[in-house]
Amino acid sequence: MNKIGYVTAALAMTLAVAAYAHNGATGIVKERMDAMMAMGNAVKALAPMMRGETAYDADAVRIAAATFTSHAGESMTALFPEGTGGSPSAAKDAVWEDWDEFVSLAEQLATYSAGLALAADNPPIMATGDMSATMMGGETMMGEESAAMMGVAPTLDTIEFAAMPVDGAFEMVSQSCSACHAKFRIEAN
Ligand code: HEC
Repeated sequence: MNKIGYVTAALAMTLAVAAYAHNGATGIVKERMDAMMAMGNAVKALAPMMRGETAYDADAVRIAAATFTSHAGESMTALFPEGTGGSPSAAKDAVWEDWDEFVSLAEQLATYSAGLALAADNPPIMATGDMSATMMGGETMMGEESAAMMGVAPTLDTIEFAAMPVDGAFEMVSQSCSACHAKFRIEAN
């Protein structure tokens, strides 16, 4: 399985498990779970396209990117007021203990989502097996732990995204989700 396949499959797996934990939530906790689910569905919608299993559709990528953007940054952090942890929420106390880092990961997702929209006109390269052009320069498969370390990596700016193959940008978005989950979300299993 290629790099995109691995990261996305790992994410899709945790997304599938999380769907069951959603039950019983109300108010702002339900609201943020719904927002997260919407993003999870957008990731699932794009994944086969990024793997080259379905035809590439730049508009679908822009729509998904808009979904991520609308739930990232301040829109996301506003749904995590202090005192809303604990069952049925899967948010760790770390959200409020390390609030600055949580905010910066939410901001990172906003940046990367905007970047994904910019990259939508650059067709995926992974699907063709052309690894030489990958923007991460030979980076290997990444699990949640290394993704967590990525969370504090220097932020790419939008100029770099505009020149990036779209699957590379999608990978950055997926890693942004995983980096935050690794540190701030209770494992669903
Ligand atoms: C800044 C941190 C952060 C980012 C970035 C983030 N998430 Fe989450 N996510 C969380 C937290 C915390 C929870 C647990 C929320 C709760 O249960 O109260 C969660 C929960 C979820 C859930 C489970 C929702 C449910 O119904 O229980 C899904 C699905 C999800 N996230 C998908 C995504 C996807 C896809 C992305 C990226 C596009 C993403 N998340 C980005 C922090 C984040």
